[in-house]
Order: sequence, then C-alpha cells, then structure tokens
Amino acid sequence: MERNEEKLRLYFSNPPEDISVDDISLEALPKHISIIMDGNGRWAKARGLDRSQGHKEGVKALREIITACVRLGIDNLSAYAFSTENWRRPQREVDLLMHLFASTLVRELPLFERENVRLVFLGDIEALPAKTRDTFKKGLAETASNTGMTLALAVNYGSRAEIVRACKLIAQEVAADSISIEDIDQDLVSSKLYTASMPDPELLIRTSGELRLSNYLLWQLAYTEFYVTDKMWPDFGRWDLLRALRSYQGRERRFGGVGTSK
Ligand code: FPP
Repeated sequence: MERNEEKLRLYFSNPPEDISVDDISLEALPKHISIIMDGNGRWAKARGLDRSQGHKEGVKALREIITACVRLGIDNLSAYAFSTENWRRPQREVDLLMHLFASTLVRELPLFERENVRLVFLGDIEALPAKTRDTFKKGLAETASNTGMTLALAVNYGSRAEIVRACKLIAQEVAADSISIEDIDQDLVSSKLYTASMPDPELLIRTSGELRLSNYLLWQLAYTEFYVTDKMWPDFGRWDLLRALRSYQGRERRFGGVGTSK
C-alpha cells in the first residue's frame, strides 16, 4: 500500500526511549496484522470503573491502531470485536456493545473515507440487532470502493462456525454439480471463509496476557507469528504496535521447513 512518509514521521514523532519507527523495516512489514483485543473489562475494574468505560477506551485504542496501520502502509488489519460466545455476557453489556459498535461506526466513517479504508466484517452480521446490522451494511456499502487498507472487524464471529459454513457452501456446489469432489483444495476452502479477500495474517497480537485462540481464525492462523503482551487493550497504542512489529521482524519464519540459518 502507498505510504505517506511525511505523515508517517509525524505520527511516530516523540518516541519513547525503547522504540522508534527507525527500529522497524518498512520494507518487511506484514501484509495482514490481526488483533485479539482483550482486557477492556479488567482495565476498567482496575480503575474502579464500569466495564462499559473499558469498552469505550477500547474503541479509542482501536482508532489509534487503525491510524497507525494506515500510516505504516499495512494492507490488511483485522480485529476480534465480538465472538459467537460473547452473547453469554450479561444482556446489559451485550446491548451496550451493540450500541457502541453502531455509534462508533457512524462516527468513524468519515475517517475511513478520508484514509481510503475499506471495511469488511468477519462473522454473521445478519443475526445482529437491526440498528447495528443496518449501520454495518451502510459502512460496507460506503467504503466498498476504497482502495487503501482493508479493515476487517470480527463481530458475531466464531472460527468453527465459519469453517462449517464453508463446508456447507462447498457441499452445495458439489450437490449442484458445479464442482466435483476433486476440485476441493485448500484454496477453495480459503475462498469460502469470511476472510476470502485477504491474505492470511502474518502477525497476531493478543493483549492482556492470555495464551488462547478463543475460536479466532483457526484456519487462517496456521503459520502466523504470535505476539502476546500483558497490556490491557485500552493501554495498547502506536508504540506497542511498533514493539510487536520489531518482535515479528526479529523472527525467522520457516513454514515447516528448516530455514536459512541451519
Ligand atoms: C475484550 O475485552 C473486548 C471486547 C469484547 C470488545 C472490543 C470492542 C471494541 C474495542 C470496539 C470495536 C468497534 C467496532 C466498530 C466493531 P473484555 O470485555 O473481554 O475484557 P476482560 O477480558 O477484561 O473482561
């Protein structure tokens, strides 16, 4: 993706002592960064605040990371906002999150327009409350022709359900005789996932120190590098993103082979 060097330098000016944009190779950035945004509730609790306050701060963190990724020229950013399991949370919190998603999207649409961001959703958005669903569809339609970064928000997303859905779509094509069983390969399966328009993530960031995948992108993360930080999501900012990228760039990716240093 195209990168505006001047805007990039400005966004990453006044760095902390341990990291700066010069520590990152801009030529070797991942094409897809994915994030499990965890710890909003604990962030709020630690400050004696309501969990809702944590989610509101979480939105601010997401905004900063979206902007940072646009400045860096990252092609694809995805983030886990609401899982198929999250419906089990207290109704009040679910309602609040649905309202927050809709109001955030309305507020941030001008940013997406200005920064040429294309929005996609991972998950079954048809099953969301009408107002949230309609707002999401408006966001999809209004950003569909943008050619800059693709931002994928996973909402009502579960990876196993996504894979079952892909199996059904493929089975329907076999049943209709439009493909044969021999045509089923990894590329075909990938093309039936919500992430069809994106490459697999090269870097997965998870905040709040949890070492779990939580039913997130199980197929797509097969060869992804993980970066886990103890920071709660509302505290994760542009410098943390650079720290994650520095860690990623310091690794050797072998994809099951033996690599170059052996
Ligand atoms: C995890 O914290 C975070 C969430 C469940 C929601 C994150 C959502 C956003 C930041 C907004 C996304 C915006 C749009 C437009 C989709 P948690 O509640 O699991 O925290 P805990 O583990 O400490 O309880």
